[in-house]
Amino acid sequence: MIKVSASLLAADPLWLGESLRRMEAAGADWIHVDVMDGHFVPNLCFGTGIVSALRSVTALPLDVHLMIEHPRRHAEAFVRAGADWLTVHQEACDCVPALLREIREMGARPGVSLKPSTPAEAAEAFLPLADLVLVMTVEPGFGGQKMIPSTLEKLSSLTEMLRGCGSSALLQVDGGIDAYTARDAVKAGADVLVMGSALVTARDPAVVLRGVRAADV
Ligand code: DX5
Ligand code: ZN
Repeated sequence: MIKVSASLLAADPLWLGESLRRMEAAGADWIHVDVMDGHFVPNLCFGTGIVSALRSVTALPLDVHLMIEHPRRHAEAFVRAGADWLTVHQEACDCVPALLREIREMGARPGVSLKPSTPAEAAEAFLPLADLVLVMTVEPGFGGQKMIPSTLEKLSSLTEMLRGCGSSALLQVDGGIDAYTARDAVKAGADVLVMGSALVTARDPAVVLRGVRAADV
């Protein structure tokens, strides 16, 4: 069954706890925490303090998406803070394979992410090391953008590659996912949908989630 990871980037920062509770009540499966350093992406947000604060009040899996340079310097701190899934960008460093192994040894589930312009083949060597492959469907850095439809083409190549190496890693999409684009993403092979503005700012997030789950047929 499809999973939805609610991205708190779209929440009012003064009411983060309240947004978390709304997402839990609506039935979100995971909570997606975006970490940005102002270098890897031109925006700044969230750090280990937010992850541990969220950890202290929720039992939902925390899905932490590192959009930072030098992810190896910070991975352990995010795992200690309570990340269940920790995803690093393929483009962020040459240490991705070692880092994926380290994240697993630290007790979290490792993920690797690809920007829209990064081909699926760039991750091929790392796939056996990852439990999650995140295909960015917008340029990382900001919520509320429109999905780039051509990014979904990568999903079928990745599905093939994962099958080829006997991996059961989950395929995640992130950026511009709403009730309509969710349908295309699921058809293309996505297992986990990150949803920010279309879910977190919705008047009734439970209705949005029901619509999205109905796309999983
Ligand atoms: C963007 C982030 C996303 C963002 C998605 O770089 O990685 O997780 O919150 O937001 P929406 O769903 O609004 O595109
Ligand atoms: Zn994200």
